[in-house]
Amino acid sequence: MPDKLTDQTSKPRPSPAGASQAVAGSAAARPGAEGGTPAVEFRDIDIAYGKFVAVRDFSLAIRRGSFVTLLGPSGCGKTTILRSIAGLVDISGGQISIGGRRVDDVPIYKRNIGLVFQSYALFPHKNVFDNVAFGLKYRNVPKADIQRKVRQALEMVRLPGSEKKLPSQLSGGQQQRIALARAIVFEPEVLLLDEPLSALDANMREEMRVEIKKIQKETGITAIFVTHDQEEALSMSDRIVVMNAGAVEQIGTPEEVYETPATAFVADFLGKANMLAGTVSAADQQTATVSLAAGQTVTVASPRALAPGAAVTVVVRPQKLAVGPAATSNRLAGRVVSTSYLGSSAIYEVDIGGRTTIRANTPISGKIAREGEAIDVGFGPADCVLLDENGSRIA
Ligand SMILES: Nc1ncnc2c1ncn2[C@@H]1O[C@H](COP(=O)(O)OP(=O)(O)OP(=O)(O)O)[C@@H](O)[C@H]1O
Ligand SMILES: [Mg+2]
Repeated sequence: MPDKLTDQTSKPRPSPAGASQAVAGSAAARPGAEGGTPAVEFRDIDIAYGKFVAVRDFSLAIRRGSFVTLLGPSGCGKTTILRSIAGLVDISGGQISIGGRRVDDVPIYKRNIGLVFQSYALFPHKNVFDNVAFGLKYRNVPKADIQRKVRQALEMVRLPGSEKKLPSQLSGGQQQRIALARAIVFEPEVLLLDEPLSALDANMREEMRVEIKKIQKETGITAIFVTHDQEEALSMSDRIVVMNAGAVEQIGTPEEVYETPATAFVADFLGKANMLAGTVSAADQQTATVSLAAGQTVTVASPRALAPGAAVTVVVRPQKLAVGPAATSNRLAGRVVSTSYLGSSAIYEVDIGGRTTIRANTPISGKIAREGEAIDVGFGPADCVLLDENGSRIA
């Protein structure tokens, strides 16, 4: 099936008028008749709180049945986007479609959407059955069907037989499972999850990551997940939307956003990449020689011939750096500033040239280098990404 999630940035796009016709004229929400229609589509969305613009030119098409994560720092607009899908916040520009239908004027209660929040938001005085059955009763589902659907949903979240318990008799993780059961029991078109794991302890969080992903795959539901935790995003998502200050920085698979960050922001937000500033001193179609501000010269792969004198940043992931006498082409002599022993690997902060500290995360083989020791770090020409003077990846 073609992937409908386009790798677009937040840059203004041409012809929104033609685009709106395409959406309005697409097949109505009949399953099967709309193979290519995105489950959710945003076109050039703007959202403002009073004069403050929280989201700008946000465009995104989400493929049916996929798991998409909005990832970004606090305040970048993730919750605002989710709220706009549910109809809890008004958009001031652009349009949102769910299953090919524009929903700009569809009220909250008519949007078929499941919601899970960070705080479980269960009704404290209702038992588990009544909490989970809430959305079904609201939709006037016959009583016998309610019994069956609640039972199935509780089996799905691995809490069968818990119908009579009160939320206060459940652990945080169990409450979040009930919140999930309540959100999926009426088979919504889209499931929205806003930092659902952040109130849980580390072990429970990892367990629930796997659990949520499993349920999403089993039900085939389209899920939009919000987090500021990069590991959560990388491990759970089909696609990640990296956001910064109300706009999209990059959309891609976990591998794409990690391996080929489109901007300096993405490189730094996902995994704290090393950013080595420099100037191109020589270049051909495939390679560039860069004089680093720290004093050394490196030769790196380049997608095109760069102009000598151009300011660039060489981005290298800590995991791509070889430490010690390994035979890599770009070798930087340095001194260990700190060593963090992690069992199977070690993280070294290495000072190169007295002005730049490089972070290397390397499997342990042999002796561990200690603070103050002289050490080489190295990387191959293809182990890095080049950014231009504006912090955008050179393509
Ligand atoms: N009701 C509101 N009134 C005014 N400003 C708001 C309102 N809600 C959010 N904002 C502002 O809009 C911006 C985006 O907020 P939003 O809650 O979407 O961020 P977020 O990415 O979900 O952050 P977090 O990770 O902290 O939950 C923030 O600057 C926030 O202060
Ligand atoms: Mg939020």
